[in-house]
Amino acid sequence: MKTLKDKRVLIGVSGSIAAYKIAFLVRLLIKQGAQVKVLMTATAKAFIPPVTLATLSKEPVISDFYKNESGEWNNHVELGLWADVFVVAPASANTIAKMANGICDNILLATYLSARCKVMFAPAMDLDMYQHPAVQNNISKLQTYGNHFIEAETGELASGLEGKGRMAEPETILQHILHHFGQN
Ligand SMILES: Cc1cc2nc3c(=O)[nH]c(=O)nc-3n(C[C@H](O)[C@H](O)[C@H](O)COP(=O)(O)O)c2cc1C
Repeated sequence: MKTLKDKRVLIGVSGSIAAYKIAFLVRLLIKQGAQVKVLMTATAKAFIPPVTLATLSKEPVISDFYKNESGEWNNHVELGLWADVFVVAPASANTIAKMANGICDNILLATYLSARCKVMFAPAMDLDMYQHPAVQNNISKLQTYGNHFIEAETGELASGLEGKGRMAEPETILQHILHHFGQN
């Protein structure tokens, strides 16, 4: 059964090595019948090519406010209103800090501030970054705004260190989304 049929899922990808896992999340969501749109920060594009996520989501990936040549612009307000749920994953320390403080210097952040739907965020970073009080305070701050925290997992990190900071697996993020829609 397609449990997310016609649900509109907006995904915001920021600059972490865990960005590659978003390809699997997009596939899982599409298989469940969701409509998926992907926003990427400029840094995220260094970690996974937009063409991969555009192909899997069947929608162009959006990462700029406007196109220089034509002046055509991407409407962050419309994107924020379009979504039934907005999932920021992976959420870098930088993006989390900006979200927590209302900074709006890219389309992911502008859409975050415009979104009326439930916002979820799944941090990914090295263990020392993750446990730093600045990051932990920003995570707590986002929760006080009503944003849904998808906790990082413990295990081997891209740095080679072991600890807490791995982004939740795509299947786990899917479970949070299904739960939000009352499907598990
Ligand atoms: C190889 C590499 C891996 C990185 N992985 C992470 C990460 O997992 N989490 C994180 O918070 N920052 C990570 N960074 C740093 C971010 O990419 C950097 O803070 C960037 O400014 C984030 O921008 P954004 O939040 O606009 O995407 C990494 C940087 C490099 C070069």
